[in-house]
Amino acid sequence: MGLEKNRQYGDSTVSVHGGEAHHKALDSITDPVVMASTYTFSDTQSVIDYIEENQQRGEYGRYGNPNEAVVESKLAQLEAGEDAVLYSSGMAAIVGVIMAKLSAGDEVVFFDECYHRSREFCSKHMSRFGVVTRQVEACNYDAMEAAITPNTKLLVSESPTNPHLSVVDLDRFAAIGKRNNVETLIDATLATPYNCRPLIHGVDYVLHSATKYLAGHNDLLAGVIIGDRVKLEDIRYLRGILGSINSAHNCYLLQRGLKTFDVRMARHNANGQAVAEFLEQHPRVEKVYYPGLASHKYHDIARAQMSGFGGLITFEVQDADWRQTADIVDRCRIPKIGPSLGGVESLIEQPMVMSYYELPATERASYGIKDNMIRMAIGIEDTQDLIDDLDQALKG
Ligand SMILES: Cc1ncc(COP(=O)(O)O)c(C=O)c1O
Repeated sequence: MGLEKNRQYGDSTVSVHGGEAHHKALDSITDPVVMASTYTFSDTQSVIDYIEENQQRGEYGRYGNPNEAVVESKLAQLEAGEDAVLYSSGMAAIVGVIMAKLSAGDEVVFFDECYHRSREFCSKHMSRFGVVTRQVEACNYDAMEAAITPNTKLLVSESPTNPHLSVVDLDRFAAIGKRNNVETLIDATLATPYNCRPLIHGVDYVLHSATKYLAGHNDLLAGVIIGDRVKLEDIRYLRGILGSINSAHNCYLLQRGLKTFDVRMARHNANGQAVAEFLEQHPRVEKVYYPGLASHKYHDIARAQMSGFGGLITFEVQDADWRQTADIVDRCRIPKIGPSLGGVESLIEQPMVMSYYELPATERASYGIKDNMIRMAIGIEDTQDLIDDLDQALKG
C-alpha cells in the first residue's frame, strides 16, 4: 500500500509521504540511512541482468544511493515534475546542468539579476570552454529575445531574483524559449514549489538550492534540478562522472527537513508579509523590496503566478551611509548575521558587505547593490518578536 499513483494529494501529504515506501526496511517508520560506497551482486549473472535489463538498484555510490532516490522522488512530486536530480549543493546543480547542456560555440542568456556565482561560473569559467554568456536586464523580455542567436541553447533566470525580488513572467519567459527552440531554466530557490511551479508555465527545468527552504534548517547543502525524465538523462549521467552527489546522511536530513516544508512555508510567508508591511511604514525605511507589497514593481505578476511571497525581504534605510546601516544590522538581537536564507532561524546581512565587498563601488552599483541596503531572510520565529526587534534596531 502507500500513496495511490494516480491520485493528486495535497502538498503537506506529499511533503511527509511522497517518494517513500509505505512499509520500510526493518519495519522502521523512517528510511534507514544506507551508508555504502558500493553495492554488491550475489553472482555474475545478477551483474549481467542489471546491465541488460537496466534494473533499478544500487551499483556504485557516485551514481546514486537509496536515500537520494527517495528525496529525488519527493522533490519531483512537490514540483509537479517527472524526475529530479539531486546534487551536493545548488551551485553543483547549476554547474551540472550548464555542463551537460552546453558545448563550445553554444550560448546562454541570463537575466542579469541572479545569484552572482551562477553568473560568474558562466562568464568566467564556461568561457574557457568556448561557451558564450550574454546578460540582459532582468524582466526585459524583448532584450532577452533579441539576445538569442542560432547558437543559443539555454535561457536562465531566477524568479524571484535575489536580492531585488523581481518576479519573472514565467509564461512570457517560457514562450520566448519555445518560439526560438531554446530550452529555459528557472532558479526558483526563493519561490519554492509551495509558492510557484514554473514547470506548469512551460519552463523546461526548475533548479533549487535545496540548502534553503527545502531543507529548511540551515544545516546542510544540496541542490536539485527538476523536469522531464528524458531531458534530465544526460544531466544525471554527467553527475555520475562529476561526482557531485549528496551523502546518504545528507539526503536523510533533507528528507527530514522536507517533512515540515509545507508548515514552515506557511509561516515564512506570513512572517515575510507582516515584516515587509511593518518596514514599509517605518519612518527610517526608504524602500522595501518584497513582491507581496502593492508598491513592488512586480506585484501584479507575483500575485498572478505565486500563492505566497516567502521570507526574503530587502530594504533601504533612509539617509544612511554604509556604517549607519551596519549599526542597524549589529543592533538586531534575533536575526543572526550571515548569508543564506530559507532556514527556521532568521538571518540578516548587508549585501554590500556580505557578498559584494571586494567589488569596486561602480560594479556594485551596476548590480543595484546600495550601501544602505539590508537583506533579511525571515525565519519562523514569532512575528511580533521579529517586528519588535527590528523596531528597536532601527530606532538605535
Ligand atoms: C538563488 C540561489 N541559487 C543558487 C544558490 C547556490 O546554492 P548553494 O549555496 O546551495 O550552492 C544560491 C545560494 O545562495 C541562491 O541564493
